[in-house]
Amino acid sequence: MKYIIICLILASVLAQQEPLKPVWAPTWSQDFVEYFNVTNQIYANVGTYQYNAPSNSSRLSRSNGKQDPFCIGYLNYNTTSAPCEHLTVNNTRWMYYPDEDNCCYCCNAEQGCGILKPDWLQGATFLGLEEVYGTPAFYWVMYEGPNKPNYVWETTEANPLERSLLKIARNNYQEVYIQNQIRRDIQNITLPASCSYQNKCGAKCAVFRGETVTQAM
Ligand SMILES: *[C@@H]1O[C@H](CO)[C@@H](O)[C@H](O)[C@H]1NC(C)=O
Ligand SMILES: *[C@@H]1O[C@H](CO)[C@@H](O)[C@H](O)[C@H]1NC(C)=O
Ligand SMILES: *[C@@H]1O[C@H](CO)[C@@H](O)[C@H](O)[C@H]1NC(C)=O
Ligand SMILES: *[C@@H]1O[C@H](CO)[C@@H](O)[C@H](O)[C@H]1NC(C)=O
Ligand SMILES: *[C@@H]1O[C@H](CO)[C@@H](O)[C@H](O)[C@H]1NC(C)=O
Repeated sequence: MKYIIICLILASVLAQQEPLKPVWAPTWSQDFVEYFNVTNQIYANVGTYQYNAPSNSSRLSRSNGKQDPFCIGYLNYNTTSAPCEHLTVNNTRWMYYPDEDNCCYCCNAEQGCGILKPDWLQGATFLGLEEVYGTPAFYWVMYEGPNKPNYVWETTEANPLERSLLKIARNNYQEVYIQNQIRRDIQNITLPASCSYQNKCGAKCAVFRGETVTQAM
């Protein structure tokens, strides 16, 4: 009897160790430092992820788009260094270059280019507790394909909507999110006047327009 009770207590403790799967809050923005690893060379950026699920919009801005396979497909942005934004408005994705007010059309929701849905990590596997720069984190992996893991670290609040990002590692880059800096205010994300369907981005955007394979970040 004693043994059974101990087993039951142990089982309930173990059951509590698996947190609820991540769900992103509907609106927030958070800054990050990003590291691209291109043929063993490390390129660092600063950026901001701005998320507004109710309006199907997001803005992923980076200080330099030169390592981003979506950003290098317009004008000579494959050779020059310039800030670049993935601007997704009403589930249509654009590349926007704020310094020059240039913009090109990338791809749409049917092609996998809409916003990440708040529950896009429902299929993630819990990998355990880890620390990210001293902060305890829930550590998850979400596979997009057999060799395409997305690793996500987030803070450890029981309620997924109260958590914030600590780190994302994907393909050849990782983003370390600045802690305690999440902003939960509503951010309106609007399309600049320079964005026109006539200006099409090439590079990875053209790949997405041609074939639906994966979901773009
Ligand atoms: C960069 O990527 C290469 C190949 O995946 C890996 O061997 C190397 O350790 C990485 N470098 C850093 C600093 O992460
Ligand atoms: C956002 O997209 C969904 C489909 O994914 C649609 O049902 C909804 O009406 C859209 N919201 C707005 C505000 O356009
Ligand atoms: C940059 O893109 C242009 C086309 O937009 C292409 O002609 C050129 O070869 C590319 N340069 C590099 C270094 O990839
Ligand atoms: C958003 O997209 C939906 C579906 O594509 C469309 O019906 C709606 O008119 C769009 N809204 C705006 C404000 O463009
Ligand atoms: C954001 O957009 C909504 C709806 O279009 C509008 O009512 C609101 O005033 C806007 N907020 C800001 C800060 O621009």
